[in-house]
Amino acid sequence: MTIMNWDASLDVGVDQMNREHQGLLNLMNRLHDARDAGKTGKEVLDILDALGAATVKHFKDEEDFMERSGYPKFKTHKLIHEDLLKKFTGYAEAAHASHGKLEDGFFFFLKHWLTAHIKGIDMQYGPNAQKLAS
Ligand SMILES: [Fe+2]
Ligand SMILES: [Fe+2]
Repeated sequence: MTIMNWDASLDVGVDQMNREHQGLLNLMNRLHDARDAGKTGKEVLDILDALGAATVKHFKDEEDFMERSGYPKFKTHKLIHEDLLKKFTGYAEAAHASHGKLEDGFFFFLKHWLTAHIKGIDMQYGPNAQKLAS
């Protein structure tokens, strides 16, 4: 079962960021499916590591985008990314230590990231960018 499917409520109004969010969501759903199928070990850890790499890239791209577009809340948003990445790294290290066993708390964290961060925080930079473009 997926954690969440892409829909308009996740549309932040910036194509590149939407594409990157879709990539992250796809990896999160694959992890959830792997856990549901009882998989552990390398199969799970490879997806987890891909999600980690995509997250580092996405946060960097998003921060560059916010800085370029003169987004006033850029610095706070960057701090929130640092916190998310620290939490993600903690879960990823625990998963590696247990050979790919993913805890429920990890999936609560991912869901919170999608609903509170993308829908709540990322959503705010779109109108700023559109204002500049118009
Ligand atoms: Fe963000
Ligand atoms: Fe984002």
